[in-house]
Amino acid sequence: MLNSQVEYDTIIPNNVSLSSDKRVLKALERWHPGYIDWWKDLGPVGFQESLVYLRTAINVDRDGWATFDYVKMPDYRWGILLAPQKENRIIPFGDHKGEPAWQEVPGEYRSMLRRLIVIQGDTEPASIEQQRFLGSTAPSLYDMRNLFQVNVEEGRHLWAMVYLLQKYFGSDGREEANELLKRQSGSEDAPRMLGAFNESTPDWLSFFMFTAFTDRDGKMQLEALAQSGFDPLSRTCRFMLTEEAHHMFVGENGVRRVIKKTCETMQKAGITDPFDINRIRELGVIDLPTIQKKINLHYSLSLDLFGSEISTNAANTYTASVKGRFWETKIKDDHMLKNDTYPILEFDNGKILRKDASALLSLNMRLRDDYTKDTAVSMKRWNRTIEEYQIKFEMSLPFEGFNRKIGTFMNANISPSGDVLSQETWEKDKNKFLPTNDDNIFIESLMLPETEPGKYAGWIAAPDMGIDNQPGDFEYVKIHDA
Ligand SMILES: [Fe+2]
Ligand SMILES: [Fe+2]
Repeated sequence: MLNSQVEYDTIIPNNVSLSSDKRVLKALERWHPGYIDWWKDLGPVGFQESLVYLRTAINVDRDGWATFDYVKMPDYRWGILLAPQKENRIIPFGDHKGEPAWQEVPGEYRSMLRRLIVIQGDTEPASIEQQRFLGSTAPSLYDMRNLFQVNVEEGRHLWAMVYLLQKYFGSDGREEANELLKRQSGSEDAPRMLGAFNESTPDWLSFFMFTAFTDRDGKMQLEALAQSGFDPLSRTCRFMLTEEAHHMFVGENGVRRVIKKTCETMQKAGITDPFDINRIRELGVIDLPTIQKKINLHYSLSLDLFGSEISTNAANTYTASVKGRFWETKIKDDHMLKNDTYPILEFDNGKILRKDASALLSLNMRLRDDYTKDTAVSMKRWNRTIEEYQIKFEMSLPFEGFNRKIGTFMNANISPSGDVLSQETWEKDKNKFLPTNDDNIFIESLMLPETEPGKYAGWIAAPDMGIDNQPGDFEYVKIHDA
């Protein structure tokens, strides 16, 4: 099965020949109404009847995989799309290195694989739930469209994981698929599985930070799963990554446009001191130190998603050839790691120690380091924008031990620059590190909708280019025209 063309002959577009796989087709058709109900109840609030200029995948090949058209979100064609099967793919790491990739789930790794798929699946609807109130405060139709594009694609990612559960995991897979629609972000009784996915996304700067930092964690997890010996999982993740790239573009560019508008406004007003916060805020833009605090918050929350620095779970999934490393096939080592070490930091007795740990046990840490390197590219672009306006301020990523809830630093008080602080100093200074209530109230006060085509709210610059090469005043969402 080497389909790249997507079939539209069933209610669920797909390139996995669903029409000849009656059992799975039926299971998905049975799951579909519950999904639509969930989308209407916990998906975007309002705009469900609006026409949104969305891309839909028609082909999973590298070029021309998407078409753009006006769609009502509940009518979006959520589909099952896997990257084309690579012929004779060989497992690149772990105990099964060199064996042909598995087309079925090996019995011994069944529960391990199911758990990984469920955790990944759980994050997809969670982010939609977190972002559901943002439509009504969108700073432009362009941004509103991007939000909804991210939302429908996260919905598709849920479909992707549900397909794997339904096809390969029998009745417990079906049960897990149903549970994915029952947990809810921020819920007391049935929260989503990972911490950062239970935080709220109350404003658009938070949304841009989330897509810049947390979606990038998603990218790293998908890259690691794309190496999996279980070929259907690998192919699923490879296609998801093409969509994920757009989400991070939305985040990185969103933050950059906020920074740009702030700098531009400061320059026009003749303000050179980035810490002249009150004057800057009076101009209706978000001061750079507050943006830095948002970076501190979202980066540290996202680091927690990688789990503990030392993890037997991570070692086991690697040894089982189930979850690999970022760009595994490009790394030059034995891809077994049994005797290798990896440098990590440990917080012990109030001190930060550098240690060489077992490479297998520190795979979470390694993936996190790769994430940090990836994130640094965004930081560079943001700083270049600040430089263009000759403002003396540099955004930076906080130290890895700052504000952590998971891992070796979970009980430590450490500043963004990496100094170990007493409880007293932490309490005194934490408002300089993390957004305060006042900061959040100020940001929320700017969240006034702008729905005229081509116009942007006062706190954010227009993008350099439109989506799908559309002109600046393109009507990306026809709010009432439907
Ligand atoms: Fe996703
Ligand atoms: Fe995403």
